[in-house]
Amino acid sequence: MDNIIFKRRSIRRFESRPVEADKIERILKAGMQAPSAHNLQPWEFLVLTEQEKRDAVSKMSPWSGMVANAPVTIIVVGHQQNEDMKKYLPQDLGACTENILLQIAYEGLGGCWMGFYPDKDRVNSVREYFNMPEDRIPFSVIALGYSPDENRFIDRSDMSRVHYNRW
Ligand SMILES: Cc1cc2nc3c(=O)[nH]c(=O)nc-3n(C[C@H](O)[C@H](O)[C@H](O)COP(=O)(O)O)c2cc1C
Repeated sequence: MDNIIFKRRSIRRFESRPVEADKIERILKAGMQAPSAHNLQPWEFLVLTEQEKRDAVSKMSPWSGMVANAPVTIIVVGHQQNEDMKKYLPQDLGACTENILLQIAYEGLGGCWMGFYPDKDRVNSVREYFNMPEDRIPFSVIALGYSPDENRFIDRSDMSRVHYNRW
């Protein structure tokens, strides 16, 4: 249980000190390592470090205020040209987002997933502000940075939810 999966938590307070470029790169690579339907890897990433841009995104959801105080924000953006595979986009991007969160914790940082997709107003706000093409889908917003708070295990296991062989 000392695996990073069991320690990862949503961290919402950040120090102002910048995050090293090699850590950000490993975090993005972890996202790109996620499984995806037919291995189509339908993701792109928008990395924000500039205060003005983070301030703007922090106001695009009632629950994204922390973006203003996080030194780095990653927006996971979906792009699926295959009509048949579009139905899997949320699953692919969810797996990608979780990989990013796990690597953030592994790097000794804190991070928090903010849900933007499928809220149309939030998706459109990001798309318009950054002049993204219509076929790009801003899926999740992840604030990250060094934090005074730590990733800490809490036990959520509940084996009564598990069914073996029959329901
Ligand atoms: C799809 C999704 C959307 C979320 N949106 C927000 C959000 O907008 N703001 C926020 O502070 N936390 C958000 N969270 C984080 C959850 O509140 C958090 O994961 C949950 O309370 C469990 O806590 P933990 O991550 O510390 O284990 C979101 C999580 C998911 C998976």
